[in-house]
Amino acid sequence: MNVKQCTLKVLENHKGQYISGQELAQQLSVSRNSVWKSVKSLREEGYEISAVPNKGYCLANSSDILSSQGIKKHLAEYSDNFDIIVYKTITSTNSVAKELASKGAKEGTVIISEEQTQGRGRLGRNFYSPQKTGIYMSLILRPELNASESLFITTSAAVAVARAIESVSDKDVKIKWVNDVFCNDKKVCGILTEASFGLESGGIEFVVLGIGINVKPPQDGFPSKIEEIATSVFENDISADIRSELIAEVLKNFLQYYKKLPSKDFISDYKARSLLIGRKISVISGDSAQNATAIDIDDDCKLKVEFDDGTQKLLSSGEVSIRI
Ligand code: BTN
Repeated sequence: MNVKQCTLKVLENHKGQYISGQELAQQLSVSRNSVWKSVKSLREEGYEISAVPNKGYCLANSSDILSSQGIKKHLAEYSDNFDIIVYKTITSTNSVAKELASKGAKEGTVIISEEQTQGRGRLGRNFYSPQKTGIYMSLILRPELNASESLFITTSAAVAVARAIESVSDKDVKIKWVNDVFCNDKKVCGILTEASFGLESGGIEFVVLGIGINVKPPQDGFPSKIEEIATSVFENDISADIRSELIAEVLKNFLQYYKKLPSKDFISDYKARSLLIGRKISVISGDSAQNATAIDIDDDCKLKVEFDDGTQKLLSSGEVSIRI
């Protein structure tokens, strides 16, 4: 870490409190002048840092810029498992993570952006990613799993997100099979997992786990195309640190499941949160849709459905929608 990053780390750890220039300089083993230069540069980046004679520097509680230092503060003892890179704007965190992974970026590298200009969803859809109100993050993994076991990365991530949202809010969080996270019957988070397979080995070279969470309502509202189906974790303005806290919770929860894969400790939690079990659904395949009832989710995260003609089927992937 350079002096500026170290200065930000100390200020984040003392957020809302003053720390003297002398103490900062001592902690970082640099001159007070270089502390001042770092503060100046951080201010230019938008950090709200006040400087008061005889008191020192203070990063305002209202400062809501995402940074590796601000997120790592919440990761505590899990911090060393992750290398976090934060961008102001990016096409897609998944695209950048894939590029970095193909150049050798290590497991645990996390790409985060304040906004995405080409956020991607499943089935070639877009993921609306306006600045400041959401979390757009991609985690690089190098799992020692076979292709079918690696499917549990996505499903366990859905549980990790659901638990994280519940730990920072009073929301009841459900999972819509396969990997959408819902609050109040509307989508609050989507997950896009992409894998690269080694040409010679045929095994997984790397996986990029992309997670998008609507944290606050977008400043101009959701676009009309998705306003009926999308929601955010919070309806009102909330603590500035909440996105950092939520990112850290997701990473911590996910890491615990990931370390145990292919063991499926998360399945019971996944099932208990199912939005679909017992509901009337449409199973969509290409241009056609078939009416069915969702009956169960098995231990491989397959959805058991019963069609209206009484036949049953286990679905391992695909699109379903709830019938009202
Ligand atoms: C979906 O709902 O179909 C999946 C949406 C996944 C969105 C996330 S946001 C971070 C990462 N970068 C992307 O471009 N997509 C994923």
